[in-house]
Amino acid sequence: EKGAYPYYMLKEIDDQPAVMRRIVQEYTDTLGRTVIDEDIIKQITASDRIYVIACGTSYNAGWVGKAILEKMTNIPVEVHLSSEFGYNMPLLSDNPFFIFLSQSGETADSRQVLVQTSELGLPSLTLTNVAGSTLSREADYTLLLHAGPEIAVASTKAYTAQIAVLAVLAKAVGDSKANPSSLDFDIAHELSVIATVIESIIAEKMTISQLVEDYLATTRNAFYIGRGVDYYVSMEASLKLKEISYIQAEGFAAGELKHGTIALIEEMTPVFGVITDKKTAAHTRGNLKEVESRGARNFVIALSSLAKETDQFVIPDVHPLLTALVSIIPTQLIAYFATLQRGYDVDKPRNLAKSVTVE
Ligand code: F6R
Repeated sequence: EKGAYPYYMLKEIDDQPAVMRRIVQEYTDTLGRTVIDEDIIKQITASDRIYVIACGTSYNAGWVGKAILEKMTNIPVEVHLSSEFGYNMPLLSDNPFFIFLSQSGETADSRQVLVQTSELGLPSLTLTNVAGSTLSREADYTLLLHAGPEIAVASTKAYTAQIAVLAVLAKAVGDSKANPSSLDFDIAHELSVIATVIESIIAEKMTISQLVEDYLATTRNAFYIGRGVDYYVSMEASLKLKEISYIQAEGFAAGELKHGTIALIEEMTPVFGVITDKKTAAHTRGNLKEVESRGARNFVIALSSLAKETDQFVIPDVHPLLTALVSIIPTQLIAYFATLQRGYDVDKPRNLAKSVTVE
């Protein structure tokens, strides 16, 4: 029920701290150890490559998951769009393990891949928000997102839940391999910190609303740029903005813009820079300077420890592997307010359905 909320999307953005805490409760014990089916961990530990298969927002979550999984498990991870993978399957490794990401568990594009991998006898795990959904029933294993029903067409809490559950899974596999980077990672604590930080960001939503009025009121297009995980967040941030506000938005690798797409920067084009990674912060700032000198209006979302006084939105520091869980929050609110201010239906964008059951 959306209760006092004007739209489900706003309620679901607000749900995210509780979802983070629920994931901690469901997937860790009182000593902070992960609680995940041993068979899943054995299968993944025995595999030489993880293939993440998904569409849309779930696909974008998969990229963040890749960064976390590789770091914790030392197993290479590939992320693929379901609709491409099914018909142009790449050469597979000797012992692949498949992870299907699907909020609804009903996405036809993803299901057709699962049908094929099952026929090949390859092990599979579905991460879904819906118990008993098709992808859950047909995969060997399921991990539930525990995000609660997601009603708004634009996915918000399922994205952060997918990343959080993938992080728990990465920790479980990493621990079973006694990887130091995993053993040192207190996932229960880090996700609890994240929950509190998300609350503090949501508390600033009126600031974001005002910034959106200033930056996006009349614009035709916008860009999100970043590097590494900040690039993956940029892809999701731009999908969210375009699908509900109809502002044409592109998420771009910050360093790649100058290889062509920078031609689209005009006087006053909004460019959102996402900066949460120490090793790339200076480079992304350099790229923001490049677009600014071509007329762009920059909007910087930066982690506190990397922030400059002129940045538009600063987020408190969290564990370096989990920054996507907090940097995505202002971008969800940006999409929400841009849509509200343009007078569109936030929860029901045109041409879209909540679950896509055709290929
Ligand atoms: C975007 C959105 C879609 C879905 C995509 C996959 O906000 O909701 O891009 O993420 O259709 O859906 P699931 O995760 O249900 O397979």
